[in-house]
Amino acid sequence: MRLHVLTLSPEAFPWLGEYGVVGRAVRAGRVELRTWNPRAYTDDPHGRVDDRPYGGGAGMVLRAEPLARTLEAVRAVDPALARVVCLTPHGRRFVQADAERLAASGPSLALVCGRYEGMDERFVETYADEELSIGDFVLSGGETAALVVLDAVVRLLPGVVGDPASLADESFGGQGLAAPVYTRPSVWRGRTVPEILLGGDHAAIERWRREEARARTGRRRPDLLDAEGSPDPPPR
Ligand code: ADE
Repeated sequence: MRLHVLTLSPEAFPWLGEYGVVGRAVRAGRVELRTWNPRAYTDDPHGRVDDRPYGGGAGMVLRAEPLARTLEAVRAVDPALARVVCLTPHGRRFVQADAERLAASGPSLALVCGRYEGMDERFVETYADEELSIGDFVLSGGETAALVVLDAVVRLLPGVVGDPASLADESFGGQGLAAPVYTRPSVWRGRTVPEILLGGDHAAIERWRREEARARTGRRRPDLLDAEGSPDPPPR
């Protein structure tokens, strides 16, 4: 999968492409991660990519033209670009089902990182397939949100996580939060591992994990027991 990130801070992304699961996917050639800086594509003689909001108000707005030109440059080298996703605090809430959908969405994906007070709505209307927010809080830019989305998507691509079974039991896999896990030693500072996990009765362990997962979900995220995901239907 080819992943294009439109960002005024390309320096935020090499870390993701070099380390961990995503780094491994890049080195194995399963993923190509490329950043595009709208400053390099601006029509403004002074290189400006932002301007004051019409109607007044605080802050600056990302101009439509540099973003459009940057996306057109992406399309010129990657005509198969399947989806354009804008990261903004007013997008639909990003959940695991979105990561799964985006991982299966096609050979390439573009993420546009918002900045300042946001991006000119006409760019979003013209180019974006969807707007996503990673949670109900405001970040200083879409870059950290894009890192989150990229990580969540890339690890779902075929062959990226070594043992696909490790994806099956995770939180949000359809059964809410995951059960607690333990490793050696079986007694640590006087605290023991739940007896059932030491017994080797796999059916009983499976039952215990399901019950623990359900109880934990009920305590921490009762909303997940009714319906997973965000209130809006996923986009087209
Ligand atoms: N930009 C600023 N805040 C954001 C958020 N919560 N999600 C996505 N992009 C953002």
